[in-house]
Amino acid sequence: MVELAPSILSCNFYDLKSDIEDTYGTDLKILHVDVMDGIFVPNISFGFKVINDLRKNCNYFLDTHLMIEEPIRYIEEFKKAGADRLTVHYEACKNLGETLDLINKSGMKAGLTFKPKTDKESMLDYMDKIDLILIMSVEPGFGGQSFMEDSLEKIKFFRKYIDDNNLDVKIEVDGGIKTTNVNKVIDAGADIIVAGSDVFAKDIKNQINNYYQIFKQKSL
Ligand code: DX5
Ligand code: ZN
Repeated sequence: MVELAPSILSCNFYDLKSDIEDTYGTDLKILHVDVMDGIFVPNISFGFKVINDLRKNCNYFLDTHLMIEEPIRYIEEFKKAGADRLTVHYEACKNLGETLDLINKSGMKAGLTFKPKTDKESMLDYMDKIDLILIMSVEPGFGGQSFMEDSLEKIKFFRKYIDDNNLDVKIEVDGGIKTTNVNKVIDAGADIIVAGSDVFAKDIKNQINNYYQIFKQKSL
């Protein structure tokens, strides 16, 4: 079944505990954690301390999306903080192969993503080093943007490539997803749905349940 990964970027950081606790009692297993350095993207979010405090206080799989230059510098720190997966940007790594190898060696899962204007085919050389390909359906940097329709073709492209080659790689889609447009994202072949503002800026528990109701309907 499809899984939801709500992005905590849209949480109320003054009351993070309460936002996270609102997710309890649902089918949720994953939190999407957006780390931004103000250089790779024009925004700064949060870092190790927030991840570590989440790690100590909840059992969710911490799906960590690194919008930072040269993430290879911080793999050990993210491991220590308690991240479960590090997804790095193609454009941010001088030596992407080595970066992915080090993430795998650390015992975390390795994901790969790319900005909307980057050629998707460039990812194919790395498919054997990753457990997740993340399709960005907005320009990375901010929550609350509109879904880019041309990402549907990219999802279909990777769905076919993964299925044809029998790869154990999940497809995650991130940006502008709402309960009102998630159906076409799933139909295109997504396995994991990231939603920030559509979960944490609304009735959190209710929205998570709405998403899982859609996912269950789809898997019938
Ligand atoms: C954007 C982030 C997203 C963002 C999604 O750079 O990677 O994860 O938080 O937010 P929404 O769902 O509001 O577009
Ligand atoms: Zn993200």
